[in-house]
Amino acid sequence: MSMLAMLRTFIDQSYPPAPTFTEADVPDLAGKVVLVTGGNTGIGKETVRVVLEHGARVYLACRSEEKGKAAVKELLDLTGKTELFLLSLDLSSFASIRNCADELKRKETKLDVLFNNAGLMAPPIQQLTAEGYDMTFGTNVVGPYLLTKLLHPLLQAAAAEHHDARVVHTSSLGHAAGPKPCITWESLKPGEPGENKRRSMGPDNLYYQSKAGVIMVANELARRYGDEGIIHMSLHPGTIKSELGRNWPLSQRISYSLFIRLKPTALGAITQLYAGTSPEGKHLNGKYLIPWARVGKSRDDMQDEKISGRLWEWLEEQTAAVATYRSFSPAEGAVWAESESGHSTESESVPARVKELDELPHNVGDMPSIAKVKNWYAQSFDELIHFPSMLSLPSHIRNALLVQPPDHHQLPESTPNPSLMFMNDDFASMALGYERCQDDRRT
Ligand SMILES: NC(=O)c1ccc[n+]([C@@H]2O[C@H](COP(=O)([O-])OP(=O)(O)OC[C@H]3O[C@@H](n4cnc5c(N)ncnc54)[C@H](OP(=O)(O)O)[C@@H]3O)[C@@H](O)[C@H]2O)c1
Repeated sequence: MSMLAMLRTFIDQSYPPAPTFTEADVPDLAGKVVLVTGGNTGIGKETVRVVLEHGARVYLACRSEEKGKAAVKELLDLTGKTELFLLSLDLSSFASIRNCADELKRKETKLDVLFNNAGLMAPPIQQLTAEGYDMTFGTNVVGPYLLTKLLHPLLQAAAAEHHDARVVHTSSLGHAAGPKPCITWESLKPGEPGENKRRSMGPDNLYYQSKAGVIMVANELARRYGDEGIIHMSLHPGTIKSELGRNWPLSQRISYSLFIRLKPTALGAITQLYAGTSPEGKHLNGKYLIPWARVGKSRDDMQDEKISGRLWEWLEEQTAAVATYRSFSPAEGAVWAESESGHSTESESVPARVKELDELPHNVGDMPSIAKVKNWYAQSFDELIHFPSMLSLPSHIRNALLVQPPDHHQLPESTPNPSLMFMNDDFASMALGYERCQDDRRT
C-alpha cells in the first residue's frame, strides 16, 4: 500500500461516515447463546450490554474475577436482564482456555455467536504467556485460535440448527502499519536468537503483527468452515476510547490523543455487533469489516494463503496437545465423536464406561454418591489411563474424579500420549477436591 493509500485508509477508518447500522438495528436475539471475550471493559463490555438488551443468553469471559463480577453486576442492573454469566478466561494460558471451553460445554449445548474481542497492546516486552509465546501474539492470536477450536463443536451445534453460527475476530487497522513480511516467525515463541528479533521489533510492531495474525486466522477459519454455516469475520472496530493504551507510556498516550479524536466506546461495538448479529452478517464469511459496519479490505498480504496457511499449520502444531482434547457436555452423554482426522481412536468399551458414570449420581457432598463414583473409578481407571485419548474424556467425568484419592492412582512414568501432561493439572485438582471432601466429612 502506498503512503497516500495508507493515509486515505487511515482517515476513512478513523473518521468514518455516520453509522447506518445502530444498536437499535440489532435483531431480537432470544434463544441465542453468545460469548464475549474481554467483556468486562471497553468495546467488549458494550457488546455484552447490547446483546443482553436484545434478549441473548450471554457469557462474559474475562481474566479477573473481581472485574468480571463488577461488570456483570453493573450490566444486570443497567439492563434489567438476568441471563448474563461469568466465565473465567485468561487467553495467555492454555489451561485457562481449556477450562473456559469446558465450563461452557457443561452449561450449553450450542454457541451461536463468539466475539473474540479480548486483546492487549504493548505489554512489557519481557512478558511471555504461560506456554512461552510472545505475550501479544499469544494473547491476541494463539489464545483465541485455541478457544475457537475448542468451542467448534458448540458452534457446529448452532450451525446445525440454523446454518448460521458466527465468530467475530476483532483485529485492528494497525495490521496495515505492521512489518512486512507480516509475520516474523522467530518472534512468536522466542528462543535465544529469536528473542533479540522480538525485542528489536518493539511493542507496537508486535501488536500490529498480532492483529495481522487475527485476520489471517479468521480467513483460514472462513475457508475451512464457511460451508458448514460457521461464519468467520475479522474487523477493525474504530479508534475508540478504552483501556487499550494502558501499557503505553504517558507521553505516547498524550501524543496519540492529540493526533486522533477517539470515539465513544459504544460506537466501537457497532461493527462487531453488525458482524455478529445482523442478517447481512450471514453473508460476510471471510470478510474484513471497517467502521462503522462496512465491508472493507485488509492489507493485500492478509490474503496470501502461503503465509496464512503456514500460520495455520504453526498454530495447529503449537496447540495439538490441547486442541485434540475433547470434552463433552452432559447433553452429549456418551456419544463419542471421531477425531478431526476422521479416525475413531476410542476403544469399544470406553463409551460404555462413560455412559455408566453418566447414570451415577454426582453430588460431591453426598457420601453414597462419592462411594459409587469411587467404585466406578477404581474399576475403570486402568482402562481409561491406557486409553489413547484420555484427554477426550468428558469433563463431567473428570469432575467426578475429584472425589478420588490421588495416591491410589499415580500417573504412569511414561505414557504413550504426550498430551497426558495436562492430566497433571487434573490430578492436582483431584487432590484438592479430595482434601476438600475429607474436610467436609470431618466437620
Ligand atoms: N480501542 C481501540 O481504538 C481499538 C482499535 C483497534 C482494535 N481494538 C481491539 O478491540 C478489542 C477490544 O479492545 P478495547 O479497546 O476494548 O480495549 P480494553 O478496554 O483494554 O479491553 C481489552 C479486553 O481484553 C482483555 N484481555 C487482555 N488480555 C487478556 C487475557 N490475557 N485474557 C483475557 N482477556 C484479556 C482485557 O481484560 P482486563 O480488563 O483484565 O485487562 C479487557 O477485557 C481488542 O482486541 C483491541 O485490540 C481496539
